[in-house]
Amino acid sequence: MKVGILGAGRIAATMARTLNGMKEAEAYAVASRSLEKAEAFARANHVEKAYGSYEEMLADEEVELVYIATPHSHHLEHGKLCISCGKPVLCEKSFTANAAQARELLDYAAEKKVFITEAIWTRYMPSRKMINDIIASGELGDIKMISANLGYELTDKERMLRPELAGGALLDVGVYTLNFASMVLGDDIVKMTSECVKTDTGVDGQDAIILTYRDGKLAVLHTGMWADTEQYGIIYGTKGYMIACNINNIDTIQIYSPDRHLVREIKVPEQITGYEYEVLACRRALAAGKLECEEMPHAETLRIMEWMDALRADWGVKYPFE
Ligand SMILES: NC(=O)c1ccc[n+]([C@@H]2O[C@H](COP(=O)([O-])OP(=O)(O)OC[C@H]3O[C@@H](n4cnc5c(N)ncnc54)[C@H](OP(=O)(O)O)[C@@H]3O)[C@@H](O)[C@H]2O)c1
Repeated sequence: MKVGILGAGRIAATMARTLNGMKEAEAYAVASRSLEKAEAFARANHVEKAYGSYEEMLADEEVELVYIATPHSHHLEHGKLCISCGKPVLCEKSFTANAAQARELLDYAAEKKVFITEAIWTRYMPSRKMINDIIASGELGDIKMISANLGYELTDKERMLRPELAGGALLDVGVYTLNFASMVLGDDIVKMTSECVKTDTGVDGQDAIILTYRDGKLAVLHTGMWADTEQYGIIYGTKGYMIACNINNIDTIQIYSPDRHLVREIKVPEQITGYEYEVLACRRALAAGKLECEEMPHAETLRIMEWMDALRADWGVKYPFE
C-alpha cells in the first residue's frame, strides 16, 4: 500500500520510519507547504516522492492512503481536502479540534463514501486485546476503578501553547487517558468532574479528570504539558490489579496480587514503532471495502471529541475559531 504523508513535521518522520520497516506498506510520498522542506524530508526519511503542496500529492493517482500529520486545528480542512480527492485517510489524533468539526468531517466522508479513521495508535495495538483478555479471564476479579496519566514537558513544542492551533494538554496527550478509560471501562458515564490549570496563552496546561460510570466504576485521570509522569494505566479489581506501563505505547503489563506482590509481567510483541498496527488496520479495512476501522469506529471518535468538548466547556478553554 502506497502511503502519502501530509505535513512534514515531527510525527511524520516517525511514520516514515515505520513505513520503511513494513513490507505491507511503503513511504511513497510526502507533501509539505514548502517543496524544499518536502525534498529534505524525503531525502532524510527515504520517501520516494516529494510534493511542494498538499494538493499536488493528492493528485498523484498512486497514493492509496493519506496520513494526515498536521496540527489538530487543521485536520478538518486537510481531511476534507483528501476526501474531495477521493483519498482514504488515516488522520492523527485528536481527530479534529472539536466534536462539531468531527461530525462535519465524518459526514463528508460518508457522503463521498471515502474511508477515514483516527490515528489513535493505542486502539490498534496488541496490548489492547492482551488487557481485555486478562480482565475477561477474571484473574483480577471484578474491576472497580482505573487510573491513568500521561504527562510530558512539552512547552518547547510551539503548537502546544497556541490556541489557534488547538493547543493544550487535553487534545494532545489527555486524549490517551480518555481512550484508555474508554477501552477498559466503556463509555457509559453519568458524570465528569474535572479541574484544569491554564497556560498564559489560555489553553489547558494540566488537567485532572474523574469519570463516574453508571455501574459505579470510576476512572481517575490526569494529564499535562509541564512535567513528565510515569504514564501508568492501573486497573483495580477485587482480586488484584494490573499496571499497563506507558499508556501512550504500552510495553509491559504487570499483574499484582491484592497485597502488592508482582505475580507476573507480560511484554508486548516486538514492534517497529507501534504505528504499524494502525496502518495494517487501514489496509485490512480498505481491502474489505469498509469506510471505517473496527478498532476505532467513527462513533467512538465522535464520543471522545464530545467528552473533550465538555471538559473544555467546564474550563472555559475556547479556541479562537470556535
Ligand atoms: N500518534 C502519536 O503518537 C502522535 C505524536 C505526536 C503528535 N501526534 C499528532 O500529530 C499531529 C502533528 O503533530 P507534530 O508534533 O508532528 O506537529 P509538528 O511537528 O508541528 O508538525 C505539524 C506539521 O503540520 C504542517 N502544518 C500545516 N499547516 C500548519 C500550520 N498552520 N501550522 C503549523 N503546522 C502546519 C506543517 O508541515 P509542512 O510545513 O510540511 O506543511 C508541520 O510541520 C498532531 O495532531 C498531534 O496530536 C501524534
